[in-house]
Amino acid sequence: MSVDLEKTLRPIDADLPPYPAKWVTLASGDEMVIRQVGRDDVSTLLAHVEPLIHVERDYYDIVAARVYAELLAYHVHRVQDEYVLVAQIDGELAAVVNGRQVRPGLGMSLHTLALRRGLRIGAHAFAAKMEYHMDILGHDEVLVVAESPIGFRRWMIEYQLEERFDTPHELGGVPSYALTRELFERARSKLVVGRRPVPAELLAKAQEAILPPTDPPTPPADLLAATRARYDTTGTALMLQRRIQEQGVHDA
Ligand SMILES: CC(C)(COP(=O)(O)OP(=O)(O)OC[C@H]1O[C@@H](n2cnc3c(N)ncnc32)[C@H](O)[C@@H]1OP(=O)(O)O)[C@@H](O)C(=O)NCCC(=O)NCCS
Repeated sequence: MSVDLEKTLRPIDADLPPYPAKWVTLASGDEMVIRQVGRDDVSTLLAHVEPLIHVERDYYDIVAARVYAELLAYHVHRVQDEYVLVAQIDGELAAVVNGRQVRPGLGMSLHTLALRRGLRIGAHAFAAKMEYHMDILGHDEVLVVAESPIGFRRWMIEYQLEERFDTPHELGGVPSYALTRELFERARSKLVVGRRPVPAELLAKAQEAILPPTDPPTPPADLLAATRARYDTTGTALMLQRRIQEQGVHDA
């Protein structure tokens, strides 16, 4: 490809100020660092996001597929003004969140993906990106949608987001909701937690490497078994049948 065409295809990003890293103490006692990452980190993130494309539960599949595409677009400069934040516990990837600036004053929340469950890690990571839009980028409003019922509970209900149904969101063109500055200030003391600066040792550990998640969501052992047969609620017979069939294929 000619250098000139690449110049046309590649958007020129605005000079956005960086997100200042913070650390959050989780209910488990773990210390979690939330920080911004750059294009050099994308290939590591892609390797950890890709397996989630095959997890149907809780809409991980569609969200992971979209996050994968957004990270790739960021890496190869095919998206305007995107940022990516990660949450890490002992270096391990615990969440990925991203968004972009549509224009000065207006933010677009893209995705939130939790790679460890049950500790409100996704909720903290989402709060961090709202903090970025409001406190650092100075946006008046952030457009948000949810692809999953858990996401709807976490964002629309917990923040009491306002309807902006005349504005299609970039994620599928569905009607948007909005976090306004007023709603953010109302939620701040309850939902936006964390401290700065991050202790040097904790930050160094996070920056050293983005390690694979140790307990990420995974697909069920057998998709057919997951549908549950009427007289075999564990799906054991289906799994055995599947194994025998697979054995037959290998032996053929
Ligand atoms: C939406 C999301 C980011 C929220 O992350 P989170 O705040 O860390 O919350 P979790 O997903 O861990 O837990 C959500 C609920 O399910 C329960 N839960 C589900 N699976 C669980 C598991 N394996 N272990 C423990 N709890 C689990 C939690 O107890 C929690 O209940 P609560 O709402 O009463 O607190 C996360 O569910 C996710 O990544 N989902 C898939 C992608 C997605 O939908 N993203 C948002 C797009 S709008």
